[in-house]
Amino acid sequence: MTRRHAVALIPGDGIGPEVIDASLEVLEKAASLHGFALDMTRFDWSCDRYLATGRMMPEDGIDQLRPHAAILLGAVGWPARVPDSVSLHGLLLPIRKSFDQFANMRPHRLLPGATGPLKSEAFDILCIRENTEGEYSGAGGRIHVGTPAEVAVETSIFTRRGVERILRFGFEQARRRSGRLASVTKSNAQKYSMVFWDEVTEEVAADYPDVTVSRYHIDAIAARMVMAPETLDVVVASNLFGDILTDLGAAIQGGLGFAPSANINPDRSQPSMFEPVHGSAPDIAGRGIANPVATLWSAALMLDHLGEEAAGRSLLAALSAVTAEGRLRTPDQGGQSRTTDVARAVADRLS
Ligand code: NAI
Ligand code: MG
Repeated sequence: MTRRHAVALIPGDGIGPEVIDASLEVLEKAASLHGFALDMTRFDWSCDRYLATGRMMPEDGIDQLRPHAAILLGAVGWPARVPDSVSLHGLLLPIRKSFDQFANMRPHRLLPGATGPLKSEAFDILCIRENTEGEYSGAGGRIHVGTPAEVAVETSIFTRRGVERILRFGFEQARRRSGRLASVTKSNAQKYSMVFWDEVTEEVAADYPDVTVSRYHIDAIAARMVMAPETLDVVVASNLFGDILTDLGAAIQGGLGFAPSANINPDRSQPSMFEPVHGSAPDIAGRGIANPVATLWSAALMLDHLGEEAAGRSLLAALSAVTAEGRLRTPDQGGQSRTTDVARAVADRLS
């Protein structure tokens, strides 16, 4: 019997639908070559929908998504028509939160033929960012607003459960890759939360004697990512630290057009979500020139997650072959190709 995977598609806004549509042909071909089927359901949840109905997604949206094994998302947001706070809080954040997608995984690798700002070509790091708590917990308040006595407080919340599970996920990934893990800390200055983070790192490390652990302060690892990236492999960081490091990683790997991401619920009890790091790019939307590489790579991560690793590897290989050849480049990479040209070339290279 054919293996089947239910996938929810949320193309979203701007270039979101352009990069998702371009990816479908590639996904369908990968599935047929590797002997499985993707049952894809498309959801038109977006700013357009908000303007028409007053909601980014229907009230039971989360329930509609729940039966799927994975979600592939384009991009959400159209700031000229709907405030970002509305679009973000009405769609993206509820999905991440409801499905407890606590591990934000971002591979940073310079694809062959891609040019980043560093001299080194050895850039292959997997950043794992805690996605649910820490510095972005939203606990805080302001008093005496607008007066000279104004006070703003924002508290980071680190729970043993939250810290332990993200580190454990990191160790599992390190095991699958080089066996090296870097834990990002700042325990010299943050003497409660980050000392705690370090302690949990040590506890979890005891369960992974085969993984070598290094500890770096956030400032030091940011510099290391630029000066000596070959010394890093799997990097695990809190919400804020990971946010900053992954933007640095995306820049080094050649920009937003190339940066994929996955929001993972590792126990698979609920769907995980795969999406390019970039947004809806209103400045180029509707012209068919968005770079589809970030989305195609995200789709490869999705295939891995669905257990279709051979198809995921073959998709990444096809992607690398197209970037290596360098003949087809979208304008963000200095070329003149169209979104669909690049995607079609990737589909043609699949084996
Ligand atoms: P953006 O990522 O949409 O665009 C930044 C710049 O990068 C633009 O010049 C754009 O043309 C370029 N760019 C981005 N992706 C590209 C691609 N695939 N190919 C070629 N060029 C690309 O960020 P911006 O402009 O700050 O945000 C626009 C909207 O997207 C906002 O509403 C924002 O909230 C939303 N957004 C949504 C995200 C998501 O859905 N996960 C992530 C980031 C932003
Ligand atoms: Mg960011």
